[in-house]
Amino acid sequence: MPLTPAKVAVLASGRGSNLAALLDARERGKLPVEFVLVGSDKAEAAALQLAKAANIPTIALDPRSYPDRRTFDLDLFARVAASGAQWLVLAGFMRVIDGEALRPWAGRIINIHPSLLPKYRGLHTHRRALAAGDAEHGASVHFVTAELDGGPVIAQARLTIEPGDDEQLLAQRLLPLEHHLLPAVLAVLANGRLQWRCGAVHYDGRPLSGPLILRDHGLE
Ligand code: GRF
Repeated sequence: MPLTPAKVAVLASGRGSNLAALLDARERGKLPVEFVLVGSDKAEAAALQLAKAANIPTIALDPRSYPDRRTFDLDLFARVAASGAQWLVLAGFMRVIDGEALRPWAGRIINIHPSLLPKYRGLHTHRRALAAGDAEHGASVHFVTAELDGGPVIAQARLTIEPGDDEQLLAQRLLPLEHHLLPAVLAVLANGRLQWRCGAVHYDGRPLSGPLILRDHGLE
């Protein structure tokens, strides 16, 4: 365990329940990190209020006040770097990010996505899993690349689709699993057990042949 806690920034566009789960894990001593910044592309994002209540510095930048997406991303990511963050977590940050902005963060930025990637990149994942008649659904945490929801998958939480599930119920049943998955992945990333190098995700020094699986709130 490093002596000084890893510095982490979080970007979120919405209600921030995954951010809340990270803050809660830290409070309970399960996540030895320091949150140095919470940023958003939406000034009204509830995630910013959560961060303020936890005394974490916040920034909200409006993409509409930039000439293009790339300029916005470069400015946002420069501010994240200036916060001293070593790791960056996208927790419901609803934007595709420019490759140049991402480059310095390769292997240090993760995202949580509500599907069993590589299935259902993008939006409406619960609806698409139901429409396909899938037996299972889930959430994935992956390293972020310029390809939307396309970076190497680190870990997944799985759940069985039940006959009574609709889009809303499925999302509601999945969310608590997301809230365990994201802190669990950030913990192993921040304490050096997880790395993305030589084109593969390594866990405890060994390349992963498939995603880690969340079981009983731990990663296996
Ligand atoms: C989550 O479902 C996450 O998987 C997806 O966006 C949603 C964010 O929810 N990327 P919240 O803002 O963390 O509550």
